[in-house]
Amino acid sequence: MKKINLTVVGAGSTYTLGIMRSLVTEKESFPLKRVVFYDIDAARQELNAKATEIMFKELYPEIEEFIYTTDKKVAFENSDFFFMQIRSGGLKMRERDEQIPLSHQCVGQETCGAGGMAYGLRSIGDMIELVREIRSYQKEAWILNYTNPAAIVAEALNREFPDDKRILNICDMPAAIMVSYANLLGCEIWDFVPEYFGLNHYGWFTKIKNKQGEDLTQRIKDIILKDGIKAVDAVIANDASWQATFKNMETMLRDNPEFLPNTYLQYYLYPEKMVSKEDINNTRARQVINGREKNVFAMCRRIIEKNSIAGEDVHDDIHGRYMIRVAASLAYNKGDIYLVIVPNNGAIRNLQDDAMVEVPCMLTSDGPKAFAIGTIPTFQKAMIEIQLGYEKLVVDAWYEGSKQKLINALTLNRTVVNVPKAKAIVEEILNENKDYLPQFFK
Ligand code: G6P
Ligand code: MN
Repeated sequence: MKKINLTVVGAGSTYTLGIMRSLVTEKESFPLKRVVFYDIDAARQELNAKATEIMFKELYPEIEEFIYTTDKKVAFENSDFFFMQIRSGGLKMRERDEQIPLSHQCVGQETCGAGGMAYGLRSIGDMIELVREIRSYQKEAWILNYTNPAAIVAEALNREFPDDKRILNICDMPAAIMVSYANLLGCEIWDFVPEYFGLNHYGWFTKIKNKQGEDLTQRIKDIILKDGIKAVDAVIANDASWQATFKNMETMLRDNPEFLPNTYLQYYLYPEKMVSKEDINNTRARQVINGREKNVFAMCRRIIEKNSIAGEDVHDDIHGRYMIRVAASLAYNKGDIYLVIVPNNGAIRNLQDDAMVEVPCMLTSDGPKAFAIGTIPTFQKAMIEIQLGYEKLVVDAWYEGSKQKLINALTLNRTVVNVPKAKAIVEEILNENKDYLPQFFK
């Protein structure tokens, strides 16, 4: 097995240490030669980097070289894989994305609704620029994107780089949900063969089989309806907000038991309830700043202080392991099946070809090959089409600097709908994001 050179773009993330620990767990499936961290925020990145360096010395001495840098040339040259996990505007702007819609009694969320639109508008430009620069050094490298909102980023990258077959957008949410299913059944997520369709953060599991071919779908539904379902993966298990979200999955299944829903559908199916639960001064961004962010960087500081990870609970997680196994399947032509985001091109028969859909794909060194989903039912098709219209209009608007298209986008979005609200929210979002979006101020 050829050993891999990996670059992490946005290495100052609160997820980085968990992903790096996951690389240790997966060292047999995805053996590394070199790891490079890149971020524009040197201080944040340095904490993750110094802690990671210590962890690698103890748990992954096979890695020959570990570098962290703010120099793109150093970061982008000679890498085989790029894990993209930037957050344009940081958690501070995430907080504003959540607060602005909420102040209009609309869902205020990182990736869904008007907040997701604001975040999407910031991410598009940064991601296009980064991919272009990476390609100026590495034509053949795999670019795996976790950057959110993945649906909008995927749509924009597919338009900007239509012939680039080595960019792949993925999300950990379906995997995190499957970890919970596995927990209910007492098996492992890697035993599952999932059938799923939708857009990112907007889809449904239609079937879960195991590798022996046994259909587990009804058992999973029955257990959820009887005993509920909990968030169990390391990153989310001890988080009240995530537990509430998993509780809502049970509600969604009770209200419509035909398919197993993605957690994010709660924002589109129960927008009023989601708004009523929110405290505008303590939205999810604030909770992450006071919770995960504090905890992760405190742990990094302790590791650096002790010069050892001894006594620290640095754990792997599905967020990291899923991405790494996707990468391994591409790198080593394994042909494993994962849920990833690809151009539809007929996979969902009654949906337009140029939709970026999240579906099971076989991953080989040629890239992802989607399995045929067939025809989807009217309700889900209509839901998807309205959301797809919203996503496409956001990307159109970004290219054209069109405020009208943003208003139209939010008019379609189930979390806004009303034109006066759409207009007011668009005004506020553009004002807040002036520095990121000069095309709207010409
Ligand atoms: C899941 C989603 C990600 C999202 C994250 C937010 O992992 O798949 O797309 O960014 O949740 O979690 P947080 O704990 O930051 O609210
Ligand atoms: Mn996601």
